[in-house]
Amino acid sequence: MSNDHLVIFDTTLRDGEQSPGASMTKDEKVRIAKHLEKMKVDVIEAGFAIASPGDFDAVKAVADSVKDSTVCSLSRALDADIERAAEALAGANSGRIHTFIATSPIHMQYKLQMQPEQVIEQAVRAVKKARSLISDVEFSCEDAGRSEIDFLCRIIEAAIDAGATTINIPDTVGYAIPDQFAETIRQLLNRIPNADKAIFSVHCHNDLGLAVANSLAAVQAGARQVECTINGLGERAGNASLEEVVMGIRTRPDIFTVQTRIEPLHIVPTSRLVSTVTGFPVQPNKAIVGKNAFAHESGIHQDGVLKHRETYEIMKAQDVGWNTNAIVLGKHSGRNAFRSRLTDLGISFDSEAELNHAFALFKQLADKKHEIYDEDLQALVSDSRVTN
Ligand code: KIV
Ligand code: ZN
Repeated sequence: MSNDHLVIFDTTLRDGEQSPGASMTKDEKVRIAKHLEKMKVDVIEAGFAIASPGDFDAVKAVADSVKDSTVCSLSRALDADIERAAEALAGANSGRIHTFIATSPIHMQYKLQMQPEQVIEQAVRAVKKARSLISDVEFSCEDAGRSEIDFLCRIIEAAIDAGATTINIPDTVGYAIPDQFAETIRQLLNRIPNADKAIFSVHCHNDLGLAVANSLAAVQAGARQVECTINGLGERAGNASLEEVVMGIRTRPDIFTVQTRIEPLHIVPTSRLVSTVTGFPVQPNKAIVGKNAFAHESGIHQDGVLKHRETYEIMKAQDVGWNTNAIVLGKHSGRNAFRSRLTDLGISFDSEAELNHAFALFKQLADKKHEIYDEDLQALVSDSRVTN
């Protein structure tokens, strides 16, 4: 794979589903996976096959029905997990086993109760086991964001020697800060002698609201896979949001030398589907997929956008799958936006005086009503013609 290709690894169906209350049925996962495939997501993490019979069935169903994306199952660094993942992925055109073990001092001491040397041994054993079953193996250092760099270098070198084809650096608890996280990635790539034998990936959580910023900083430092979810769904404050990562890369070709395969036209419909299936609403001011992401209410902004779209927009709403670019009429709207919407509705005025009168009525209404809909405008114009 070329060095300017950024692999998009979507984990909505696995880490996204770990968000409390966001569980999905097998059929819902397949529906979402088909959307992700259409969007040209490179890797779809469909679940954690050993977690439950339902999760196994869902991973299997996604693996059997998706043909153009790699389908992945998570597994701990344990033989039984890895075998179950391989079984669920047997029908995939292209399958990946993703195995992980924690590498931070706090996780090794309290959660695993293992010595660092034992952790390396178990990681190597797991990667070898996975490679004996499938050729595409990802190894994750859980809590890498709080792990020691020297230890990360040692365990990653060993994992690559054992056959890992992707190395993932998760900021499991969302602790990283962009410059520092980018420096970690840079050091790993420079210090690990066999780093060029694997793709380096990042997986950022959003506890400090920095998941996307950390992911993009890591890409600038050389990461070539980003793990993310639709709408940023995920454990606690969520994961890096796919739509923000993809549109960040796409909107700033002056900064990023990489490209993704993602077809952004499918972003909004997929966001809607994930929201409907999980019952998690998308906040109105959410970047890219929020209902207000492209809506201009202020008069100055509306006027600017009507004169030249790029005055207040850095991307086109239509490119990410919105039907229209909504100019929301409200009390801050100006005469140009008012006239433009009426023209769209097929309403014209015989004189400027007639327009002015209707505009005055519109301002009175806008003071009382938060958003003015097309029906309000139609009623208002007919009133204005009666009262003028
Ligand atoms: O956040 C995390 O560390 C994970 C790993 C299992 C990749 O989700
Ligand atoms: Zn995670």
